[in-house]
Amino acid sequence: MKNFFLISLLSLYLICLNAQDLKSPNNEIELNSNLDKDGRLNYSVNYKSIPVILESGLGFILKNEDDLFSGFKINKIIYSSKDDEWNPVWGEESKIRNNYNEMLLELEQVTSERKMNIRFRVFNNSIGFRYEFPAQNNLGSFIITDEKTEFAMTADHSALWIPGDYDTQEYNYIESKLSEIKNKSIDFRESNVSSYRFSDWGVQTALMMKTKKGLYINIHEAALIEYSAMHLKFNPSNMVFESQLTPDSYGNMAYMNPPHNTPWRTVIVSDDARDILANRITYNLNEPSLIEDTSWIKPIKYIGVWWEMITGQSSWWYTNDLSSIRINETDYSKLKSNNTHAANNNKVMRYIDFASEHGFDALLVEGWNIGWEDWFDKKKDYVFDFLTPYPDFDIEKLNKYAISKGISLMMHHETSGAIRNYERHIDEAYSLMNTHGYNSVKSGYVGRIIPAGERHYGQYMVNHYLYSIKKAVDYKIMVNAHEAVRPTGVSRTYPNHIGNESARGTEFRGSNLNHTTILPFTRLIGGPMDYTPGIFEMDPRKNRPDFQPNLNQTLDAGSVFTTLANQLGLYVVMYSPLQMAADLPKNYMRFPDAFQFIKDVALDWDKSIYLEAEPGKYITVARKEKGTENWFIGNSNGYNKRKAEVDFSFLEPGKNYFATIYSDTKYSDYATNPQSYEIETKKVTSTSKLKITTVPAGGFAISILPEVEKN
Ligand code: NOJ
Ligand code: CA
Repeated sequence: MKNFFLISLLSLYLICLNAQDLKSPNNEIELNSNLDKDGRLNYSVNYKSIPVILESGLGFILKNEDDLFSGFKINKIIYSSKDDEWNPVWGEESKIRNNYNEMLLELEQVTSERKMNIRFRVFNNSIGFRYEFPAQNNLGSFIITDEKTEFAMTADHSALWIPGDYDTQEYNYIESKLSEIKNKSIDFRESNVSSYRFSDWGVQTALMMKTKKGLYINIHEAALIEYSAMHLKFNPSNMVFESQLTPDSYGNMAYMNPPHNTPWRTVIVSDDARDILANRITYNLNEPSLIEDTSWIKPIKYIGVWWEMITGQSSWWYTNDLSSIRINETDYSKLKSNNTHAANNNKVMRYIDFASEHGFDALLVEGWNIGWEDWFDKKKDYVFDFLTPYPDFDIEKLNKYAISKGISLMMHHETSGAIRNYERHIDEAYSLMNTHGYNSVKSGYVGRIIPAGERHYGQYMVNHYLYSIKKAVDYKIMVNAHEAVRPTGVSRTYPNHIGNESARGTEFRGSNLNHTTILPFTRLIGGPMDYTPGIFEMDPRKNRPDFQPNLNQTLDAGSVFTTLANQLGLYVVMYSPLQMAADLPKNYMRFPDAFQFIKDVALDWDKSIYLEAEPGKYITVARKEKGTENWFIGNSNGYNKRKAEVDFSFLEPGKNYFATIYSDTKYSDYATNPQSYEIETKKVTSTSKLKITTVPAGGFAISILPEVEKN
């Protein structure tokens, strides 16, 4: 009897240590974690008692040592909670609530005595967990060859995804059932100068899904530091996604030096799509800012000597005389200019005048530095020096001129993927920026990475991106990196990291009509994107002086497939503290009344309220400018004509406002009449409701200013 009692107590104790529950602060999410009979840890997640993630395994395969996969026992469980608020340096809101319950499971593999902890955090509408390897005698530095984190799906959900690729995210999104990923992936070939697709079942994160019953599920990661980026591989036979890390040239996935944590794996879930956009788990799972004085970090509205190169009207390179140059040996003063080199003194001064006249903060100039004649796809190590201007770009004079006109020049560092070369020059390059007064840099990683075999999303590159951001802190420089790994909220810790491209931006043109109704649910879950909106002339052929107008002509494949009103809406829909007006000054001068919205729209916000949202279909968001009573609304619409319903109840009751509405007209058509828009000003209050019609790939923008009270 006594024995039976003891055994019962023991099994109760074991059950207690083997099955753990953790609930969100509002009790809607329940996470459960268990050791299975082999001592492998798993977890599952329910939302409002509906299963979201079924029992999913955790663990790793290591190189030349036993796996950290099974055979674990739980030594200790530590529960804790947090509910506080923090103030981002820039953001969609000025206060972010960080409210979660935490469970730390301290595991030990019985035979090897190696320790591995799993830290779970459950927020309202989201969960995150990471693996932690404490410093210990039995586990020194080790190499991960496979992470076996699973996300077991409950059914064949519909999903918005891009193919799993270690080198690019510059894809259109595909919408399909999970079981269709392979076939759709095989059919889907978009070329890119660097691309490595690891499996036809592979997809990238953030992955956005919807269940038949209307649950929205988003999987991503937070705090990707000293580790490689996670993709997902779907197994149709059991509906399980497994993590797929990005390997290096040896096939190794991550190099670990305990104490060392993995990034957080995150799942956001809600029955209301707007909650996915409003969720801040990605930032909340990153560490607070390590930069004490952040006074030099400021949102930037900019234009660029850029779109004319992107659309083939001018060149980054200075001469057509040579197709091979050697940095510091080729004497450019002896070479003839090709007359298409855009970054020349006269042109840059004209752009500075335009930027200054219209209240921009900065002007990006690409193609200012030597090396562009053979910059690309030549596997050239010493490809740029980031220091020497072309003969027709007077760096000192132009910066002085810009500063005298109240704007800054934005530096451009295209690395061409040659990482050793960039790191070799980075200190001198940032110092040069300090000397002349540049406070921000757009960097770029076009093409295959040198050293060969490294991938854009591998640990080597993840370390490099952060290295260049940390270095920039020393020089008080803000960084916007293109073709870098997609963000995971690390800019909370390093808020000088003000932007990334890392997805298919406007430069690609020809994007799907609903592209910007998806990106906020996917790419932007990790942080802002330098999407470069504001194209008023959708057909770049028409920018050319030799263009022959043909009245029946519709947009060609190199066009931007949206209406002009949609382009305005993007300044609010596609949140970023860094916003470009990407088109040519002459096109803004053709539509000065619409351009006014780009000039007025704020970059930094006290509050954001998602009014309407459905992934792939539409997004309408209202945001209150930081420190003022001004509001701005943006909408982007997908494939179908639609009536948006805007409820102004977010406004302060009893106050009058003037709303200026920039919208599609009944004649607007992204293909045949994209430049048809109308502008109307109306008095609105918190009780106003407006219906606004949007065409396919259309949208609208609204600026709302409080009525000035007369004394
Ligand atoms: C790709 C970037 O996304 C683009 O903006 C830039 O102009 C080119 N690389 C050249 O650096
Ligand atoms: Ca790009």
